[in-house]
Amino acid sequence: MKKQYLLKKLFIFFCSFTILFAKQPDFLIHYHPHQNAKELVQSKEKSSLTYKQIMKEFGKAYYMVQEGIINQDKSLIRIGIEKIQNHPSSKNNPWNIVKKEDVPAFKESLLYYDEQLHKSAFEIEELLETDDWTTINNNIFKLSNHCINCHIAWKDNLKN
Ligand code: HEC
Repeated sequence: MKKQYLLKKLFIFFCSFTILFAKQPDFLIHYHPHQNAKELVQSKEKSSLTYKQIMKEFGKAYYMVQEGIINQDKSLIRIGIEKIQNHPSSKNNPWNIVKKEDVPAFKESLLYYDEQLHKSAFEIEELLETDDWTTINNNIFKLSNHCINCHIAWKDNLKN
């Protein structure tokens, strides 16, 4: 009797464990918030590009997304979003472009906006499974707001 009870408990435990971890929620799979800016930079593939050149690539990617939206061409949007999702890191630490006293705040921005950008991009990727162009467009607007908010905070606030 006691053994049967124990087995039942074990079975329930096993089932809940399987349900919890076998179907990992999407936000855990695709969404890896980073501990700090250094770790964030190290998680990306290193390139020989400057931070500004990475931004130019972002600009091209965003242009593709815009062109894709107006032509209702999902493959173009996907290419642009994929460029944003898999962007490499710059050759030098990104925070080299700000004044010494601004480094901690810029690191915070990097962490915050990286998370927001990738979350937005992931949501757009999911929405591309639908034909809800209005919502896709709204989410692209949301994504571009992250770009612009970081620019408002930093573009006129660099070292030189
Ligand atoms: C973490 C903050 C941050 C985020 C997020 C960000 N940018 Fe930037 N961006 C900058 C900074 C800082 C500069 C200025 C770099 C410089 O002049 O060295 C810049 C510059 C640019 C430039 C101008 C490059 C040039 O030739 O002067 C473009 C284009 C650009 N960003 C596009 C984007 C797009 C598109 C996104 C969103 C998908 C984005 N950025 C997200 C910080 C950010």
